[in-house]
Amino acid sequence: MTIAALELRGVSRHYRRKGAWFLKTKPLRAVDGVDIELQAGETLGIVGESGSGKSTLGRIAAGIEAPSGGSIAFRGAPYADIGSSAWRRQRRNVQVVFQNPSQALDPRLSIATQIHGPMVAHGLDAGDDIVAAMLARVGLAGLGTRFPHQLSGGQLQRAVIARALALSPDVIVCDEAVSALDVSVQAQILNLLQDLQAEFGMAYLFISHDLGVVRHVSHRIAVMRHGRIVETGPAARVFSQPQDSYTRSLIAALPAASPAARRARDAHQPA
Ligand SMILES: Nc1ncnc2c1ncn2[C@@H]1O[C@H](COP(=O)(O)OP(=O)(O)O)[C@@H](O)[C@H]1O
Ligand SMILES: [Mg+2]
Repeated sequence: MTIAALELRGVSRHYRRKGAWFLKTKPLRAVDGVDIELQAGETLGIVGESGSGKSTLGRIAAGIEAPSGGSIAFRGAPYADIGSSAWRRQRRNVQVVFQNPSQALDPRLSIATQIHGPMVAHGLDAGDDIVAAMLARVGLAGLGTRFPHQLSGGQLQRAVIARALALSPDVIVCDEAVSALDVSVQAQILNLLQDLQAEFGMAYLFISHDLGVVRHVSHRIAVMRHGRIVETGPAARVFSQPQDSYTRSLIAALPAASPAARRARDAHQPA
């Protein structure tokens, strides 16, 4: 057995519901007993409707938020307590790409500076040539001196991806990473992510409400509902022979071929 890049066992996250304390409402189980293994170099898609707990699971997997219960291990080593020095060292290995790149970037700093900073913080060699090469690799050659407001949404997401990639992570958690982008741009970013995985071999936990998008980037898919994984399996099998009725309803709700999915498949443009 190979050791998983990430392993979540019985992970839960409960939130207190809003409302008067004396009503003694039961806590909201945003994530409820989730087991997941993400193998090195694979893409595990997490799909489910809004509110099913995907983002909460993603934050826990990325070590940004502590679970209420259960355990997480990176390459067999349990996650350190959030905020500890061991945690800060671990964080380099599991990076995140969220939905809104303009929120992820500092409007006052050039793109190159924002790639350089985390590398230095983690003690990596961050020469100008290395940062420039990273930018070129994501399709932003020569744009390092630009500030976020001078870039398009797709370019901003490329910059966020470059910043994550610069730390040589083993895992990238992508939470709705293309959901805010125009359909044609979505396809380019999905292709870029796939090309980078082929080249560098990191694993993706790829979270999206859009089954059409998830399908085309994922080796395996886990379907989430009400905080639980209701079905998991190879992407092709989940589509051709869904075992769970909720999975079947998600597939039935898909447009014949969502534009993003179609473009990702057909128009493999240079990213
Ligand atoms: N920080 C929080 N405090 C309270 N409730 C939260 C918090 N984060 C998420 N939730 C609740 O947990 C549930 C799952 O949310 P989320 O993980 O964002 O789902 P998804 O990403 O699938 O839309 C939702 O009911 C949401 O309102
Ligand atoms: Mg979400």
